[in-house]
Amino acid sequence: MKTRGALLWEPGTRSGWSVEEIEIDAPKEHEALIRLAASGVCHSDDHLDTGDIPLPWSPVLGGHEGAGVVEEVGPGVTYVQPGDHVVLSFLPSCGKCRMCVTGKSNMCELGAGVLAGVAPDGTHRVHAQGQGVGCMSYLGTFSPYVCAPLDAVIKIPTEMPLDKAALIGCGVPTGWGSSVYAAEIELGDTVVVVGTGGVGMNAVQGAKHKGARNVVAVDPSEFKREAATEFGATHTAKDYDEAAAIVSELTGGQGADRVIITVGVVTGDLMNPAQEMTRRGGTMVLTGAAPVLQRDVPFDLFTFAMSGKRLQGSLYGTTVARRDVPLLADLYLRGELKLDELITRTYSLDDINQAFRDMHDGKNVRGVIVYD
Ligand SMILES: NC(=O)c1ccc[n+]([C@@H]2O[C@H](COP(=O)([O-])OP(=O)(O)OC[C@H]3O[C@@H](n4cnc5c(N)ncnc54)[C@H](O)[C@@H]3O)[C@@H](O)[C@H]2O)c1
Ligand SMILES: [Zn+2]
Ligand SMILES: [Zn+2]
Repeated sequence: MKTRGALLWEPGTRSGWSVEEIEIDAPKEHEALIRLAASGVCHSDDHLDTGDIPLPWSPVLGGHEGAGVVEEVGPGVTYVQPGDHVVLSFLPSCGKCRMCVTGKSNMCELGAGVLAGVAPDGTHRVHAQGQGVGCMSYLGTFSPYVCAPLDAVIKIPTEMPLDKAALIGCGVPTGWGSSVYAAEIELGDTVVVVGTGGVGMNAVQGAKHKGARNVVAVDPSEFKREAATEFGATHTAKDYDEAAAIVSELTGGQGADRVIITVGVVTGDLMNPAQEMTRRGGTMVLTGAAPVLQRDVPFDLFTFAMSGKRLQGSLYGTTVARRDVPLLADLYLRGELKLDELITRTYSLDDINQAFRDMHDGKNVRGVIVYD
């Protein structure tokens, strides 16, 4: 089918997104065509444009945070049928590999290939100007239609509003799970969340769900700090120095139990101050993406070992998407998870470059592209 999509022809050059005609193939076996209601604008797509995540191939159809209605299914598909409401998971899980069957589906072997630039079978589903187009996360939600591998398609109840559900495809589980699973927060903990954008705001919500006593939101943007208090932050700070003083006061000088880093572009200098703020035996979680080629991290290794601290990387919040996507939808429907408040502004696909400018200017908790 012919539709439109936002492409990067020269990733890594900050050229911005080109909205143009694309052609999407009909779904094959183990695939479904989804008509999207909305796509979140996650910072990870921006990394493709800036080159923080370099891509050796192009063009790329961006977007990996979407939800919509199944329009058509491939031959033999029975898991979904036309009319079903679904969230597209930015990481697929095959359900068969060792990581999937041991409950670590965020580490699925299939998920490791989401930046390969081709569908799981090695071919293209999207074409533009006579060329094969690679899709972000096998998806490409910066288009009103997505031909998705079933391993990334998760059914949700029809009462779940689809524009809010879109955010459960990446930012919400990633942030929430960073608190609930990766950080292993315990009742009464003091938790610091560094960078409260679309991902970090959900780490704040997750910390609250796990019964954290204090949640300190750190962000240079005053707007984000104010918003963080709505999501459950008990204290806010504009930088590490301010946060360290608050944490010291709250914990009698012991330090935070957990520090979760969800900054937009992670740099090496963010790591040691996080360690200094973490108590003996405490945990740091790194969720935000650093530039892929970043290697230099000044870090006090002696203290790290001798104070028994833990540094935990976190992909997709260490969630199990087929369990947690429906769970998060249910929490929203029961009024226990804020999604409406995450969406600061909505855009048409044609205004996608404005959505990224607004992200850079710190104007949005989450910008969302809405489709007709
Ligand atoms: N690990 C994963 O699975 C995963 C999944 C999705 C996104 N991500 C990554 O998470 C990061 C956050 O994504 P997002 O969509 O929330 O981005 P965002 O732009 O919405 O939010 C980033 C926030 O960091 C703040 N910030 C910038 N510098 C800071 C600093 N020095 N100290 C404190 N705060 C600072 C910004 O003001 C902003 O509020 C990105 O790197 C993204 O690629 C990782
Ligand atoms: Zn994302
Ligand atoms: Zn798997």
